[in-house]
Amino acid sequence: MRINPSILSADFANLASELQRIHTADAVHVDVMDNHFVPNLTLGKPVVEAIAANTGLPLDIHLMIADADRWAPEYAQLGVDSVTFHAEASTAPVRLARELRATGAKASMALRPATAVEPYLDMLGELDMLLLMTVEPGFGGQKFLDLVLPKIRRARAAIEGSGRPIALQVDGGISRDTILRAVEAGADVFVAGSAVYSAPEPSVEIDVLRNLALGAH
Ligand code: DX5
Ligand code: ZN
Repeated sequence: MRINPSILSADFANLASELQRIHTADAVHVDVMDNHFVPNLTLGKPVVEAIAANTGLPLDIHLMIADADRWAPEYAQLGVDSVTFHAEASTAPVRLARELRATGAKASMALRPATAVEPYLDMLGELDMLLLMTVEPGFGGQKFLDLVLPKIRRARAAIEGSGRPIALQVDGGISRDTILRAVEAGADVFVAGSAVYSAPEPSVEIDVLRNLALGAH
């Protein structure tokens, strides 16, 4: 059970100290948005490099960008732990996942809430992680979508069936109130932005969320 806080909810003017506040995290979730795939613009490679230089935690890069086939390998080459691209933004997801792995990074693919997982089950073996969005990507602070829970269950069953150690990440609206539902459905990596950064002590909130997830299992 891993908790990856999203720095989307951090104070971007003080990223170094904001990274220090989440030192209990398992990884730092970095939301890259291009104002095309989603209606919001955040940061790109120079800021990812600055984050890497200011934390010892692994970086979990979530690309919400168009033309992922073109851009995702460049992020993987920065030496980050994992790169997640959106299936809806990739023309050749199998080739892209292989390119990501060839850099030494973990390959991960994300699905928007209304994208079915079934068309992608035969390529699970190409992935180290599957991200099922529990909000429409683009903004922090949105409400968790319970309609994704059946898809999480189906994905968990497929992962178990594959016999491979593929992580199942959820992202969007995760908090003390919603994490148990995601755990029970089968998720094991949890992104939390507003719930962590709005807490008085983000590092403690991360432990609270992890303990809730561990207790539910
Ligand atoms: C949404 C991002 C999420 C977001 C999560 O597009 O991918 O990572 O920051 O924020 P919360 O936890 O506030 O929903
Ligand atoms: Zn994200």
